[in-house]
Amino acid sequence: MRGYSVALILTLGSLPLGCEKRSEPGPSAGASGGTPTPPPGTSASSPTPADTKVPGSPSGGAAVSDSDVILLGEVGSLTGSEATFGISTRDGIELALKEANQAGGVKGKKVAVRVYDDQGKPEEAANAVTRLISQDRVKLILGEVASSNSLAMAPKCQSGQVPMITPSSTNPKVTAVGDYIFRVCFIDPFQGFVMAKFAKENLKFTRAAVLKDLKSAYSLGLTEVFTRKFTEMGGKIVATEAYSKGDSDFRAQLTAIKGHKPDAIYVPGYYTDVGIVARQAREIGIKAPLLGGDGWDSEKLWELGGSAIVGSYFSNHYSPDDPSPRVQSFLTKYKAAYGGIPDSLAALGYDAANVAIHAMQQAPDLSGPSIRAAIAQTKDFPGVAGTITLDENRNPVKPAVVLQVGSGKNKYIATISP
Ligand code: PHE
Repeated sequence: MRGYSVALILTLGSLPLGCEKRSEPGPSAGASGGTPTPPPGTSASSPTPADTKVPGSPSGGAAVSDSDVILLGEVGSLTGSEATFGISTRDGIELALKEANQAGGVKGKKVAVRVYDDQGKPEEAANAVTRLISQDRVKLILGEVASSNSLAMAPKCQSGQVPMITPSSTNPKVTAVGDYIFRVCFIDPFQGFVMAKFAKENLKFTRAAVLKDLKSAYSLGLTEVFTRKFTEMGGKIVATEAYSKGDSDFRAQLTAIKGHKPDAIYVPGYYTDVGIVARQAREIGIKAPLLGGDGWDSEKLWELGGSAIVGSYFSNHYSPDDPSPRVQSFLTKYKAAYGGIPDSLAALGYDAANVAIHAMQQAPDLSGPSIRAAIAQTKDFPGVAGTITLDENRNPVKPAVVLQVGSGKNKYIATISP
C-alpha cells in the first residue's frame, strides 16, 4: 500500500505539462515532489514509476489525498530502442487527462496517471502491471504499444479484473486474452491486407520479399497476413528472411533477398531496426522501396534511415495532414503543449485515455467490472485516429492510411477502408 498513499501526496500545479516536446522521460520523472522514493533494491521484479501526474490541476493548489484522485496506470517504453513509442503515448494520455480535469474530472475527482517505463521489455511490462494492480491499486491500465509487451500484461489485467486499454497494439491475440482487454486501434489482419493491396493495386508490384522479426508477435502476425493476402491477389513472395530484435547486421538476409530481385521488401518491424535495414539495403545496392506497418511511426526513423528510407511506404493510424477539424484541433492543442507534430502513438494515447474517461463517467461506480462494462459499450466515439465503436471482440473497425516517408516529414498517400 505504501506506493499508493505516498504517491498521491502530489502538490497540485507542481507538475504542469512541459512546453517542449520531450525526447527523454520528462524532467519530472522520479524528481517531482511527491513521487515515491524508489523502493530499496529496485530491480526487474520491482519497477519504479517514472512519473505520476495529475494533469491540468490548478497551480499553487494544496496536496491531493487518495480520495480526491482517480489513479490510472500507464506502462510504456520510455527508454530503449522503442522509446518514442512510450513517450508519445504518455504525452497523448496526459493531454487528454489535462483536458478532462479542467472540465471537472470524473465523478467530481481529478484523474492522475502513474507511468512505468518497461524499457520495451515484456518481462518489465508484466512486472509493472503487477505493481500497478497490487500496490498502486489503479482503476485501469493504458498500454502497451508493442504487441509482445501487451501480451505480457493482458493476462494479469484479466485475472486482476482491472480493465486494460491498449492504444496501439494491433496483434489480434492481445484482446483475445479476455473481456477486460480492449484496444482503440485497428488490428493486423486489416493492416497487413492494406499494404498487400497497396503494393499490388496501387504500386502494381508483383514480386515482394519479407524481412521479419522473430522476437515480435507484431512482426510475425503481419508477415503471415501480408504473405497470404499478397499471394491471394496474384503476387509472389520471392523470399522470406528473419532477424531478432536487437540485431544490427542485416546484410546476409538482404543479400539473399537481393538475389530474388523483388519489387519491394516488406519489413514489418519497429523504427530502430527499420532505419538500419534501410541503410544496409542501399549499401548493398538494393533500390527497391521498403514497405512496412505502423511500427515505423517515429520521428527517429528519419534520423536513423536518412535518405535510405525516403520514398518507402508504411500503413498507419492517422495523418497529421488530415484536414478534418478533429485532427486539426488535436494538432493545435498538442503543439501548444509539447511543441511537436504528434505521431500516431500520441493520437492513440489521447484516444485511449478519452475512451477510458468517458467510460468511467458513464459507469455507475469505479469497480473493475463496472468500468469494464462501460468500456465495452463504446460506440461512435470521436477519436482523433478515427471513430471508435468496439465490436464483440473489443476491437474497433477503422480505416488505415498509407504514408510515404519523406525527409523529415511523411507524405499522405491514401486512405484504405476495411
Ligand atoms: N502496432 C504495433 C504493435 O502492435 C505498435 C505500434 C503502433 C507502433 C502504432 C507504432 C505505431 O506492436
